[in-house]
Amino acid sequence: MIPKDTIDKIFDAARIEEIVGDYVTLKKRGANLLGLCPFHNEKTPSFTVSPAKGIYKCFGCGKAGNSVNFIMEHDQLSYPEALRFLAKKYNIEIEEKERTPEEILSQNEKESLYVVCTHAQKYFSNNLLTTDEGRSIGLSYFKERGFRDDIIEKFQLGYALDDRKAFTNDALKKGYKAEYLVKAGLTVNKEDAGGNAPSPISETHLFDRFSGRVIFPIHNLTGRIIAFGGRILKTDKKLAKYINSPETEIYHKSNVLYGIYFAKKSIISNDVCYLVEGYTDVISMHQAGIENVVASSGTSLTIEQIRLIKRYTQNITILYDGDNAGIKASFRGINMILEEGLNVKVLLFPDGDDPDSFAKRVSNDELKKFIESNTKDFIAFKTMLLYSEVSNDPIKKAQLVKDIVESIAIIPEAINRSVYIKECSRLMDMDEQLLLNELNKIRRKKTNEKNKKENALSEPSLIDEVNVEAPPQPLLPENSIEHQERGIIRLLLNYADKTILVDGNEKDDRGNPLQVNVTVAEIIIDELEHDEIKFSNRSYETIYAAYLKSRTSGQIPDMNFFITHSDVDVTKVAIDLVSSPYTLAKWEQHNIAVQTESQILKKSVYDSIYSFKARQIEQLLDQNSNILKTADRSENLDALIQKQQDLIEAKKYFNKLLGRIVVK
Ligand code: CTP
Ligand code: MN
Repeated sequence: MIPKDTIDKIFDAARIEEIVGDYVTLKKRGANLLGLCPFHNEKTPSFTVSPAKGIYKCFGCGKAGNSVNFIMEHDQLSYPEALRFLAKKYNIEIEEKERTPEEILSQNEKESLYVVCTHAQKYFSNNLLTTDEGRSIGLSYFKERGFRDDIIEKFQLGYALDDRKAFTNDALKKGYKAEYLVKAGLTVNKEDAGGNAPSPISETHLFDRFSGRVIFPIHNLTGRIIAFGGRILKTDKKLAKYINSPETEIYHKSNVLYGIYFAKKSIISNDVCYLVEGYTDVISMHQAGIENVVASSGTSLTIEQIRLIKRYTQNITILYDGDNAGIKASFRGINMILEEGLNVKVLLFPDGDDPDSFAKRVSNDELKKFIESNTKDFIAFKTMLLYSEVSNDPIKKAQLVKDIVESIAIIPEAINRSVYIKECSRLMDMDEQLLLNELNKIRRKKTNEKNKKENALSEPSLIDEVNVEAPPQPLLPENSIEHQERGIIRLLLNYADKTILVDGNEKDDRGNPLQVNVTVAEIIIDELEHDEIKFSNRSYETIYAAYLKSRTSGQIPDMNFFITHSDVDVTKVAIDLVSSPYTLAKWEQHNIAVQTESQILKKSVYDSIYSFKARQIEQLLDQNSNILKTADRSENLDALIQKQQDLIEAKKYFNKLLGRIVVK
């Protein structure tokens, strides 16, 4: 647990405009700042940041939150992880309070793996830069490949000595536990037969996973080291060129992209991500000044990796070394990217070059120019590549059309699909309608398959959906209990400490009640407690409970209390409701004569309370009449009928009140 006052300190330091500004270009718009939403694809900005309230809200996709939420959402971190990230950014020390035993166990386990990996990185770097073997073998290898010192430092490259026990023995001597060295994948237990239960650890059976290799540490999104790749230096056909860390508790290969930590900022500012194959491609591109590069590390791209990129940009350019077989093999993976709605481009390097070798061969300017002028749209590229091979064979040509249209059919946006159909009809000199027919056939088939599989009626049809922007948030039905609860909470959050003039118990000389000032919170709490009303929504209940507590403490919680609440659901509700409080306009539309804010407020408060109560009664009525319908002629029938009548009376009473809320 991070202590509350430390959390407050972090919130104070982490100004929303600064945190968001690291990732989004913001422009001033009145009291707020405006930019393009990093969470969905948009062309006109609807992402708003309010420095005064310390919150952001996107009016396109509905995402909203405070600075911690932003980091959580953007970097896919948990609440404590995001707090730690910000604490580090602002040099705020976190003194941990006691945690539950489970928390300690799972956190310690992961934390220990991070600690071990960080140590290993330092150890390998130290080998590279200060030992004779490291300098003469490892460092000179990197130098030969043309890596600059600052780049070697930035990527924290290292060297594993050519001794199969060097790292492990040194780490054990320094007090690192063998258990964690093995769990982090740095040390291999040769006794471990690979069964379910790991064998007991005996030092004589422990060997380094990496030895006699140069080391590429792999970083997670926040820059922590989670794994390593080690490249062999000799050319030995029998040995694998690279050895990598195995899957561990902190390293899930399919979720990781090499270089993402160093690339994310540049991916956002350039609004495109370059995808390459290997460690050295990423590093050489950086050295050449192109930083928006990540590598899939030799394996085919996974859906998790694509979604990782999608958080930063909708545009991905795949850089290929010029080898036709490899390119064609990648087409399947690219369909997956299209399916995620990303725009895919490709760039082919000259025969025999990969991004690493090409970047070294030419100047930085030439590299940039080459990329600019040779990047091609994927669909057009695929069409041309395959088309050039079929020549005049009609059967092959038919197969090709199917193949291409299949890729287009996967694209979620209808507008993009139709653009591609036009383009391909031109490239292949083929009737557009013919391609469209084929497209619809494929999409219909897909829709059927999908419907069958999911059996979900709510799923929109794939055929005619035109979905350019993210859909708006679903609204609650006006008469739902939750909608009523929301109304009450909205008033509390926005106006709890505002006062309203109401009739008091005391009377004046003429017998008229004396007016007294009461806070909105007091009125709402009195009314709800009087009828023992509970909230059905958990977050609303939590918020209400905080106000209820203020009755005894005398301190009404302020907005900040909820915006920085540790329960993310509460935060979301609070932010959502403060960024859209009641407006006067609504009342003007209804032709209600109002003069002052306090009058509107009074009407709003009683309106909300009475409709909430009326709705509760309706629910009780429904329940009771259902019981009545199935009740047999037993003695409690009378009681049920009486209850029904009472409820109907109560409902009438509140409806009358609702029509009678006078503004005075
Ligand atoms: N790779 C791997 N294991 C191998 C070969 C390759 O994990 N035995 C992964 C590495 O992540 C490597 C990437 O696939 O970076 C691309 O492989 P390759 O192009 O062969 O290596 P390069 O990165 O080009 O390395 P180098 O330039 O040093 O040959
Ligand atoms: Mn290479």
